[in-house]
Amino acid sequence: MSDTPNNPDKTIQDLCTLVEHLSVHQRLMAGKIEELAAHHQQIYAQQNTIYTQIDALFSIFSLIGIRHPLPTMRGWPVSPDFVKILISLILELKPETLVELGSGVSTLVGGYGLEKNGKGRLLSIDHDMPFAEITRRNLVLHGLETVAAVHEAPLQNQVFEGEERIWYAINPGILPDSIDLLVIDGPPASIRSDIRYPSLPFFFDRLSDCAVVLLDDAAREGEKDMVRRWTERWPCFTAEFVDTEKGAVILRKN
Ligand SMILES: C[S@@+](CC[C@H](N)C(=O)[O-])C[C@H]1O[C@@H](n2cnc3c(N)ncnc32)[C@H](O)[C@@H]1O
Repeated sequence: MSDTPNNPDKTIQDLCTLVEHLSVHQRLMAGKIEELAAHHQQIYAQQNTIYTQIDALFSIFSLIGIRHPLPTMRGWPVSPDFVKILISLILELKPETLVELGSGVSTLVGGYGLEKNGKGRLLSIDHDMPFAEITRRNLVLHGLETVAAVHEAPLQNQVFEGEERIWYAINPGILPDSIDLLVIDGPPASIRSDIRYPSLPFFFDRLSDCAVVLLDDAAREGEKDMVRRWTERWPCFTAEFVDTEKGAVILRKN
């Protein structure tokens, strides 16, 4: 005969063990549900990003008639949602002079935008000779070599605000006296997180009265800090953060 019915202590003990097992399983399941929810959120965010980029590509290609395939807009190059802002600004501001730091697909799209306006010149500055050469070749393939040019400027130690920093060794003679639109997408932050800080100390005196500055990768801590320091030093700028894939900031002179 089983002793269970006659041994309440044993029954209670068994029940307690069962409850313990159940609560362990419950905790495991709760953890799995949390994991699934986080995964779901990730997929949702990725789908949103993909949609935003496709949406931007439609705008870009409906505004410019490309004459040759464009380089990809994934990874190092600018994302489509940044290019959409760039084209919008070019069409809105109709700049005579656009200076860009970091050449690539942005140089081509910028060139197409200026061509659409029927005026304006783009000068792109790149520290990397092979990369500058690729962009130059692309400008020819797209028939944009009369609208945009790439200037090589190696990175060198220079002093800004009393601090030695690495920055483009730009020959000032090649720069326009007045810059209407400054696009900052270089040098690479892998060298130093706030490597792009000298952009404003270097170019501020050349910016025209209504100049606009467009900064890519503005979601990074280095860039956030840079924008804070720029707007503190030059209160004439208002900064608008745009929630693009990599974050963008549009600085407008008041
Ligand atoms: C962020 S990228 C500039 C991208 C550019 N604005 C574009 O739209 O493609 C900054 C610099 O990184 C360098 N660069 C670009 N692609 C690279 C790659 N795949 N690997 C290493 N360096 C790269 C170039 O010298 C470029 O000036």
